[in-house]
Amino acid sequence: MEPDLLLNEVAAVSVTCVIGLQWGDEAKGKLVDLLTDEHEIVVRYQGGSNAGHTVVTGGQTYKLSLIPSGILSPNVQCVVTGGVVLNPASILQEIDALVARGIKVGKNLMLSDRAHVIFPWHIAEDRALDKSCSSGENIGTTMRGIGPCYGDKVARSFAVRLGDLYRDNFRERLEYITAAKNRSLVSLNGQTGHTQLDAEAIAREYASYAKRLAPYVGDTTAYLLDAVEAGRRVLLEGAQGALLDVDHGTFPFVTSSNSSGVGVSSGSGLPGRWITKVIGVVKAYSTRVGGGPFPTEQDNEIGQHIRDRGNEYGTVTRRPRRCGWFDAVAVRYTARLSGVDALAVMLLDVLSELPDLKICTAYEIDGRRITNFPSHVEDLRRSVPVYETMPGWQQDITKIRKMADLPLAARKYLDRLSQLIARPVEVVSIGPDREQTIFARPKS
Ligand code: IMO
Ligand code: MG
Repeated sequence: MEPDLLLNEVAAVSVTCVIGLQWGDEAKGKLVDLLTDEHEIVVRYQGGSNAGHTVVTGGQTYKLSLIPSGILSPNVQCVVTGGVVLNPASILQEIDALVARGIKVGKNLMLSDRAHVIFPWHIAEDRALDKSCSSGENIGTTMRGIGPCYGDKVARSFAVRLGDLYRDNFRERLEYITAAKNRSLVSLNGQTGHTQLDAEAIAREYASYAKRLAPYVGDTTAYLLDAVEAGRRVLLEGAQGALLDVDHGTFPFVTSSNSSGVGVSSGSGLPGRWITKVIGVVKAYSTRVGGGPFPTEQDNEIGQHIRDRGNEYGTVTRRPRRCGWFDAVAVRYTARLSGVDALAVMLLDVLSELPDLKICTAYEIDGRRITNFPSHVEDLRRSVPVYETMPGWQQDITKIRKMADLPLAARKYLDRLSQLIARPVEVVSIGPDREQTIFARPKS
């Protein structure tokens, strides 16, 4: 290839990523839906059916888990890459539910043959292991088998990828794996606590899934590399949030994939240097579902107020989410880690009734003030937030469509977040509907 040709191709690249900067549930689905019109391909590249993405469009609410939010736009190609762990039964249910509502799901969905497959033993292991989390506090996983499936992927011996379901030796491998898993599950749960896995029945069940999924399966890495080189506009949809990143989050209270910006490349197979824009999504406050330290948590009437106004209950598990003030120490860290160019601040309207708002600008550990996010979870647990208080606006903002029309106190709150995180605020969401969105610069 001629060097100048290569340069031309790189110049045409357009790859945008949407990354949650907190503990997940930042309303990434809404943002991805808004950006979908400007893109040709929408990609899910990590996580699995632990994700719950809600999209409200045309007065209809769609809850998506594994399938990219782009599926609601018929001309968009949706891709689920090899970085995802895939539960075939869940994705088929999702496909059926979409089709039943008149959404086209055919050639517009592609699933990687490299994606690792979730089996019943992964869910059994998730249940057994979360109970015995050593620190005394459970991780509180979504029980979707995510961690055990990623564990098998890294350990390799018992891993099954989507493409393996179509190979002649699948049945044989399944027998070997189920025998080993039966032994380990008995040792985890005891003889009476474990229902034997039946290789024969699982083989039949997964063969039927494989047959139904066959039209969607392909090499998504090759597809995406070709697409980007051809200048097609790609949108990568992160699941979870950067504080749940297995390497850089609040370990061990994290998910099992790289859910911060650092995971985009490994999950999708696209080189990091091709990522042209990263949008960091935050809520105007903080939430967390599951265990683990959460310095700005408000386990009081303020937290309950936010939970009620924001309908802060898990999309996947319906668990009440823990709620608290915005943590600029944590978000500054994840914005830097993820290479964020601009911020989308979601759910600003949820704060509308509160007279005063607090933002955490530093932590104190044993009387020492820090602004770097602690690397050890026990240091985070001991961190006492240092707050700055700002006046609230106490008026309805859900019908506002221009930044200049927001109450002064709301603009000042956004400006302060932007200043603390050192990134511009490009999008503000003031309600679940597409129309309830303010763009700092009008969309081109
Ligand atoms: P979306 O994409 C919020 C949390 C779980 C648990 C931890 C590990 O909707 O933002 P796992 O089942 O992944 O092993 O659970 O991670 N968690 C999420 N929290 N939103 C999510 O996804 C989450 N996915 C996982 O609650 O604390
Ligand atoms: Mg969620």
